[in-house]
Amino acid sequence: NFTNDDGVSQECENLISSLASEKSFTGKKLYNYQGSWYHPNTLQAILNFKKHFQARDSDIILASLPKSGTTWLKALAFAVVHRNKYAANLVSHPLLSDNPHNLVRFLELDLYVKNQRPDLEELPSPRLFATHMPFQTLHESLRDSPCKVVYVCRNVKDVLVSRWHFRSKLVSNYSLEDTVDEFIKGAYSFGPFHDQVLSYWKESLVNSNPVLFMRYEEMIEKPVAQVMRLADFLGCSFTDEEKQAGTVEKILDLCSLGNLSSLEANKTGTSTCGIAHHAFFRKGGVGDWKNHLTDGMARKLDEMIEKKLEGSGLKF
Ligand code: A3P
Repeated sequence: NFTNDDGVSQECENLISSLASEKSFTGKKLYNYQGSWYHPNTLQAILNFKKHFQARDSDIILASLPKSGTTWLKALAFAVVHRNKYAANLVSHPLLSDNPHNLVRFLELDLYVKNQRPDLEELPSPRLFATHMPFQTLHESLRDSPCKVVYVCRNVKDVLVSRWHFRSKLVSNYSLEDTVDEFIKGAYSFGPFHDQVLSYWKESLVNSNPVLFMRYEEMIEKPVAQVMRLADFLGCSFTDEEKQAGTVEKILDLCSLGNLSSLEANKTGTSTCGIAHHAFFRKGGVGDWKNHLTDGMARKLDEMIEKKLEGSGLKF
């Protein structure tokens, strides 16, 4: 399988040549595949994933747009699923010594990048993976497996501000105005926001595929109820004894932004997807956009989202 210097195969080159393209802020080209925008190396990883991933019925896939609460959901799902193996308050818990992104790895941004063919057969069930792909692309690759998908979404304006903070550390001259323009246009990695959110929202409303739709704001507002909802969906509900023993609260404490960001393991090092661990933690919470966006920017985004989500029953 021929690959060029960027690790992109001839097959991927051929696909790319048939796709609509746009220039990203950095001048690199993005390509629209099945409704989402990607850089060529991510597209190659998606092709690798589609070709080689063998879903197991017990698999759990955590999906999101970047900056929507992915790190939190990874930590919570890992802690919930493995709670019998590692008690949440023990010093040996993997979340105390490793970053959530290394414990629940991204399919298209980590496991299948650079033409890697990870051996995932050895992993014990249930396997936990993560993705930023929209539902239609993910689902095609699951080959009708009934595995569970959990999607987390967040208010678009907080996602935008979070992305701006995150990206401006990596890319110089990345202004808030540029970020707003990107969101309005929709052409950024894994965008547009509304198409991805709707892909999972619609799926969560029908019974054919198990998709749990979670909202970052609801997790902040009612964390105990949301973690119990997550456990119910994953088929490992908390028992009355666990509830009385405060297991849910212990998991929430372990996975809190304050706790995770204070750990040495998250202050240093780089994740298997190539990002410094500390970059995944900032302020958290709801409504930081009010400290950054002008009224005009907020109005523009609200109008756009309202129009795009019209008739879907989904509101931000
Ligand atoms: P802010 O930039 O608004 O602070 P993702 O994990 O999808 O990349 O999203 C990152 C956002 O989630 C950042 O938001 C980050 O601070 C916040 N976050 C990270 N870990 C969190 C946690 N354990 N609890 C709540 N929010 C968290």
